Amino acid sequence: MKLSAGQAVDVLRAAGEPSRLRILALLAREELAVLELCRVLDQSQPRVSRHLKLLAEAGLVERFPDGAWVFYRLRGAGQAGEVVADLLDRIDPADPVLVRDAERLTAVRAERADAASEYFARNAARWDEIRSLYVSEKDVETAILKAAGQGPFRRLVDLGTGAGRMLTLLGPHADQALGLDLSQQMLNIARNQVAEAGLEGCELRHGDIFGTRLPDASADLVVVHQVLHYLADPAAAVKEAARLVAPGGKLLIVDFAPHNLEFLREQHQHRRLGFSDAEMARWLADNTLVHVHVEALPPPAKAA
Ligand SMILES: C[S@@+](CC[C@H](N)C(=O)[O-])C[C@H]1O[C@@H](n2cnc3c(N)ncnc32)[C@H](O)[C@@H]1O
Repeated sequence: MKLSAGQAVDVLRAAGEPSRLRILALLAREELAVLELCRVLDQSQPRVSRHLKLLAEAGLVERFPDGAWVFYRLRGAGQAGEVVADLLDRIDPADPVLVRDAERLTAVRAERADAASEYFARNAARWDEIRSLYVSEKDVETAILKAAGQGPFRRLVDLGTGAGRMLTLLGPHADQALGLDLSQQMLNIARNQVAEAGLEGCELRHGDIFGTRLPDASADLVVVHQVLHYLADPAAAVKEAARLVAPGGKLLIVDFAPHNLEFLREQHQHRRLGFSDAEMARWLADNTLVHVHVEALPPPAKAA
């Protein structure tokens, strides 16, 4: 539906201010927490929050709380979203203010990536123990085997394979398996694990979930197990994972439901405190994945 003249004025007013335009340009790159926006813009939280409130009221950005943090992303769809996309598209990418913001955002991202990679390098050897702190591993793995089905799979791709547990669990049902991870330390452990399990057709490769460089529709089982909550742009990771799924194949995503264990951000580098079914369903629908099956597993009694 077209915008009314009044709505068009609201959209233009909201976008028509230097800081708010910068915020829109930043959110077009990735969803961001308020404090991250403050750092990039070099403005106080009350000031940035005021801008964000106006942008949200005009329907240009969407606010979503995540534990004690609040994230924002562009609303994207609809006439207002198209006006913003068109506007941003018409701005010179070499504009010095936007270039400086992009550089600061790169620095924020690099800090996050360094902290995460340092965390995974430090904890690679203890990963199986850390993983089982949250939910009963046995229950998760039973549910994974049930959801994946017996196969046999022609090609299994495990994105963010870590110490390779999904490969040793599902690899025996696959002719070929590939585990991809950003951390060399994790990959080293995974290599030992798959060798110990005697999985000959299993390859481990250094790579990024956001750009796997794997061919379209090349796997009949793609797994993303306990990875999305570390990522700056989980929607983009789901998109890349979905791209790899062959017709009739499956994408298996395992992650936390929304929770409030804020210490996981500080101590374990989580970025998002879980995902709602609705958010996940939207990402799957955006990538035309159908026949969605959701299974929720309760936390262990002590963590509830
Ligand atoms: C919590 S571990 C999960 C590992 C494994 N899937 C499991 O369940 O045991 C998350 C893994 O994602 C990897 N990772 C994080 N960001 C990544 C990225 N952008 N691309 C590929 N792997 C990534 C980390 O290095 C880490 O090994």
